[in-house]
Amino acid sequence: MLYFALSLGVLLGPLGCYASAGPSACSNITSLLGSPKVNSHKLSLKYHKSTEYWSTPQDAYKPSCIVYPESAHDVSVALQAIRAADSRFAVKGGGHNPNTFFSSVDQGVLIDLSSLSEKSYDPDTMLATYQPGGVFGDIYDYFIKYNRTVVGARLSGVGTGLALGGGMSYLSPQYGMACDSFRELEIVLPDGQIVTASNTTNPDLFFASRGGGGNAYGVVTKYTVQSRPAGQFFAGIRIHAFPHKDTIIEAIGNFIRYNTDPKASIIGTYEKLPTPDLNLNIDEAIIMFLVYDGPDPGDAFANFTSVPHLIDTTGIKTYPEVADMPVSFATEASRGNNMFRVGVHRADNEEYKHALEVWRKWAESNKGKYSLLSLDFQPVPKSLTDASKAQGGNAMQMPDGPWFWLNYLLTTPPGMSKSDYNAIQASFRDMVSSTSNAEGLPLFINDANRDQHPLSTFSTYEKLQEIKKRYDPDNFFANKTGGWSFD
Ligand SMILES: Cc1cc2nc3c(=O)[nH]c(=O)nc-3n(C[C@H](O)[C@H](O)[C@H](O)COP(=O)(O)OP(=O)(O)OC[C@H]3O[C@@H](n4cnc5c(N)ncnc54)[C@H](O)[C@@H]3O)c2cc1C
Ligand SMILES: *[C@@H]1O[C@H](CO)[C@@H](O)[C@H](O)[C@H]1NC(C)=O
Ligand SMILES: *[C@@H]1O[C@H](CO)[C@@H](O)[C@H](O)[C@H]1NC(C)=O
Ligand SMILES: *[C@@H]1O[C@H](CO)[C@@H](O)[C@H](O)[C@H]1NC(C)=O
Ligand SMILES: *[C@@H]1O[C@H](CO)[C@@H](O)[C@H](O)[C@H]1NC(C)=O
Ligand SMILES: *[C@@H]1O[C@H](CO)[C@@H](O)[C@H](O)[C@H]1NC(C)=O
Repeated sequence: MLYFALSLGVLLGPLGCYASAGPSACSNITSLLGSPKVNSHKLSLKYHKSTEYWSTPQDAYKPSCIVYPESAHDVSVALQAIRAADSRFAVKGGGHNPNTFFSSVDQGVLIDLSSLSEKSYDPDTMLATYQPGGVFGDIYDYFIKYNRTVVGARLSGVGTGLALGGGMSYLSPQYGMACDSFRELEIVLPDGQIVTASNTTNPDLFFASRGGGGNAYGVVTKYTVQSRPAGQFFAGIRIHAFPHKDTIIEAIGNFIRYNTDPKASIIGTYEKLPTPDLNLNIDEAIIMFLVYDGPDPGDAFANFTSVPHLIDTTGIKTYPEVADMPVSFATEASRGNNMFRVGVHRADNEEYKHALEVWRKWAESNKGKYSLLSLDFQPVPKSLTDASKAQGGNAMQMPDGPWFWLNYLLTTPPGMSKSDYNAIQASFRDMVSSTSNAEGLPLFINDANRDQHPLSTFSTYEKLQEIKKRYDPDNFFANKTGGWSFD
């Protein structure tokens, strides 16, 4: 009997603790920071906004409360209170990571960074600072008045967590990944200490934070980065009907292999819609994003512009306009039951054609099971990897380009049964892995599914594991919030 009661206690203890840990962390944080910075009203508009995610299944999770820190100190107090209560938590930037619990939490504390949104520009050093709240569109709008920008998202609606995962920008072929332009970070460590990370102070932490993923070594409360000039861009999208798929894939392959102009940047995207095929070619399209830093692209895009198109929006644009292509609300409009997967391939063989074939066959045989399917080709030219190296390299220690990342997006229709959902996700995973990844190249964190274990593909993985141990020694973050696995 005693044994039974004890076992029951052992079983229920952690559960009981789990259920009350969130509320107890929340009441402590409320007493320490004041109620205006904490929201527990599940029916309020503000609570609703904070629990909206780009991948909408996460909208269903109900944190015990949402904390809106206004300083690094507030973040520190919150983390210590969460730890004291043994609660789960999540840190939310823009909320675009589709992996469950990366920036969402059920019955724990959600730290919503949206109130941390200060920015500054120093014309003498050309250094820019931004805090993690808001989206890159806000950041671009701020710096453009100095005719400057920062290396960040290609779409204005994406949040700053992008930079911690590396960050691929239209400017990357010139300046490297978003994280390569970091010069100093303010970070609240898992134990609540507020530290600076740069290549002279905590250089190991600085290294890991440049592309080693958010949510692992602490919470970044301020980014100091090298700003970049932003004048006139020749840019736009061109939409082609699918019969041109082979010409376009050839042109993408040639661009990856041969383009040497770092001012020219593309994303090539193949899209499949849920509409029936009917041999009318209305269920698929190719959207080319073409961006040139300067008013005249010369013949950098000639292999694309010679292909007949349905729609062409190319012309002279400002940088904020470039980030609003195809439309300013693109990120919002693509909210849904979204999942990402990623592939990495070399450009010296026919893998880009193989990947497209496999993807297209899968799309044909799974009609009705997706509401959107897209395959995005993202070139990593040598100029990008050179620019990264010249600034000290990042956590990926990117091998010399050219090579490319493939981003696979699957949007499933609403109302799918759990078993149908699991089946389609498994089939999608198998389709992606049937095009084998190149040896020695890193999977891109920002486009990866958690089960792809991207960190383990980095040549620096062991070093990152050590750094993780050093800064999260008792596994507080590893145990209490979602994120990439270090095991
Ligand atoms: C429509 C769309 C377009 C995209 N375009 C690009 C692109 O052009 N280039 C590119 O590289 N990627 C792109 N991505 C991928 C994108 O980088 C990732 O989805 C990224 O995780 C988004 O960051 P976020 O702040 O919006 O999301 P969140 O989910 O809020 O954050 C992502 C992760 O980082 C953590 N995190 C966020 N901020 C901090 C912080 N300050 N300190 C510690 N941890 C933090 C979160 O806890 C979470 O685990 C795109 C994604 C979408 C949906
Ligand atoms: C409240 O949080 C602080 C840290 O911010 C911590 O030191 C204290 O122990 C917590 N109190 C309780 C009752 O958990
Ligand atoms: C930005 O560029 C425009 C056009 O060249 C110029 O007229 C303006 O003075 C510049 N602004 C600043 C702050 O340099
Ligand atoms: C365009 O394609 C041709 C091959 O048809 C190739 O030689 C050339 O380098 C390509 N140019 C660019 C900029 O991709
Ligand atoms: C420190 O950063 C500068 C860029 O500001 C870079 O040129 C230099 O190589 C870095 N040093 C190290 C040791 O990484
Ligand atoms: C926390 O992490 C450690 C090390 O990985 C593990 O041994 C422990 O069981 C975890 N604790 C909880 C409560 O999950």
